[in-house]
Amino acid sequence: MADALYDFGMIGLGVMGSNLLLNMADHGFKVIGYDKNPDKTGTLESSAKKGTIVKGVNTLAQMISQLQKPRKLMMLVPAGNPVDSVIAELIPLLEEGDIIIDGGNSHYIDTLKRITFLKEKKLHFMGIGISGGEQGARVGPSIMPGGDIEAYKQVEPILKAVAAKVNEQPCVAYLGNDAAGHYVKMVHNGIEYAIMQLISECYDVLHNGLGLTNDELHTIFADWNSGEMKSFLLEITAEIFLKKDDKSENRLVDMILDKAGAKGTGKWTSEAALDLPEPIPTIDMAVMMRNISALKEERINANNLYNPGLKKINISKEDLIQQLHDALLFATVASYAQGLSMLAKASVLLKMQIPLPEVIRVWTGGCIIRSSLLNMFGKAYEKNPQLQNLLLDEKIAGLLKSKLESLQKVVTIALLHNYPVSALSASLNYFNAYCREKLPTNLIQAQRDYFGSHTYERVDAAGIFHTDWEQDDKTVDHSSGH
Ligand code: 6PG
Repeated sequence: MADALYDFGMIGLGVMGSNLLLNMADHGFKVIGYDKNPDKTGTLESSAKKGTIVKGVNTLAQMISQLQKPRKLMMLVPAGNPVDSVIAELIPLLEEGDIIIDGGNSHYIDTLKRITFLKEKKLHFMGIGISGGEQGARVGPSIMPGGDIEAYKQVEPILKAVAAKVNEQPCVAYLGNDAAGHYVKMVHNGIEYAIMQLISECYDVLHNGLGLTNDELHTIFADWNSGEMKSFLLEITAEIFLKKDDKSENRLVDMILDKAGAKGTGKWTSEAALDLPEPIPTIDMAVMMRNISALKEERINANNLYNPGLKKINISKEDLIQQLHDALLFATVASYAQGLSMLAKASVLLKMQIPLPEVIRVWTGGCIIRSSLLNMFGKAYEKNPQLQNLLLDEKIAGLLKSKLESLQKVVTIALLHNYPVSALSASLNYFNAYCREKLPTNLIQAQRDYFGSHTYERVDAAGIFHTDWEQDDKTVDHSSGH
C-alpha cells in the first residue's frame, strides 16, 4: 500500500486518535496515522478490520507525502505546547490550502491565535471538539466543528460518516465562526462537570445518609436512567456500583480515593463565563468541589478538628429517593440552562454565530452529556431561537415547578445532616435569584456609592445618581413595614 494516496491523516495515535482513524477506515476512507512510537503504529495496523485501508508511519514527512491534496489531517495530542510543536513541525511540510484540525480539548483562545497564525501561512486551521471518550471515537462520537467554513465543507463527509447517529442524523454540524468548535466543547465539559457533581451529591445522600448498598444504588440509578432523565452519565453510574475490585473483596467504587482529577476544561468554562459575564453557578460549584476534593489531607485534619459527623437521615426512604430524583432532574436542567445561556451570550459577544438548536442536536448522541432531556431543550430553541435561557420556556417552567419542592427539601435535609450539596444548592439559588423580580442588590449599589462614589440607578427615574451618604440627612423610621 506504499503509494496509496490517503484521504485523512491522524497525528497522535493514543487510543482516541487510533480509534477515530479506525472508525474512518470502517466507513471506507483510506487513512494514515503518525506516531513516533512504532508500537502504536503497529497496534493501529493490526487493529484494522480486514478490507480497510489503514497505514501507520513513524515520521510526519512520510505521512504528508502520502496524503491526497489538499491534505486533511487531525492532531489528537494533549492541549497546550504539544499542539504548537506539531504545528511548527507541520508548517514546512504543508502547502497552501492544506487543512489542519485540532481535535483535542484546546483552549479556545489558543485556537483563535493558531487560526490567525496559520491563515497568514495560507493554511486552514480548525478547532473541533470531539466527545464520547475512547469508545465513542471508535463507534461514533459527537463532533463539534467550528471556524473555517471552506475547510469544514471539505472534511464534512468524513465527519458525518464517523459521527454518532440519532434518528439517522449524524451528530455533527458546523457550530460557528472562529474557535466556536472548541468553545462549544468547553461548555459541554462544564455541563459534564456539573452533572457528574450533582450525581455524586445524590450518591452521598443515598449511600451515607440512607445507608444504601451498592446493589441498591445500582437499582436506583438504573431506574432513574429508565425514565425522563435517561442519559449516558446515569447509565454508567448505575454500572459502576456493580464493578468488583480485583484487588480486594470490595466493590471498586469503594476502593477509589476521593480526589477528583481535572484536565482544565471545567475551570476554563468558569473563567470564560466570568469574562462574559454569564452566571453558571452549578458548573462553578462542580469545579470548586473537585478543588476541595483535592485537599484530602486538609480535609482529614479539619474533620478531626470539627468532627461534624455525617448524620443518618431518618425519613421515609421511598420519599427521599423520589425527592432526590426530582432534585437531580431540576438541577440537571439548570446546568444545561446555564451552559446554553452562556453559549447564547458568547455567540453574540464573541461574534461566533453559534446555532444553539444544532448544538443541542449534536449533543443528543455520542457525547458524555447525551440525555433524553435534550429533546425537550431542542424543542424549546426551535420554538424560539432567540430564547435567552431554557428557564424561560413554558414547558420547561411547568416541569421545574413540579420538581421545585423536592429540590428545596433535598437541599434542606442534606445541609441539616452535614452533607455538602454544593451543586444542588447552587442550582436552587440560581433559580431563586433568576426568578426574583427584585433582588437585594439595591443595598450593594448603595454601599458602593457610599464608599466609592460608584453611582447608582433609581427605580423611579432614568439616569445615573450619586449621593453624599455622610451628610447628616439620615432618618430613623421606627414604624414597622416596608
Ligand atoms: C468527552 C470528555 C473528555 C474529557 C475527559 C476528562 O467529552 O469525551 O469531556 O473530552 O476531557 O473526560 O476531563 P477531566 O479530566 O477534565 O475530567
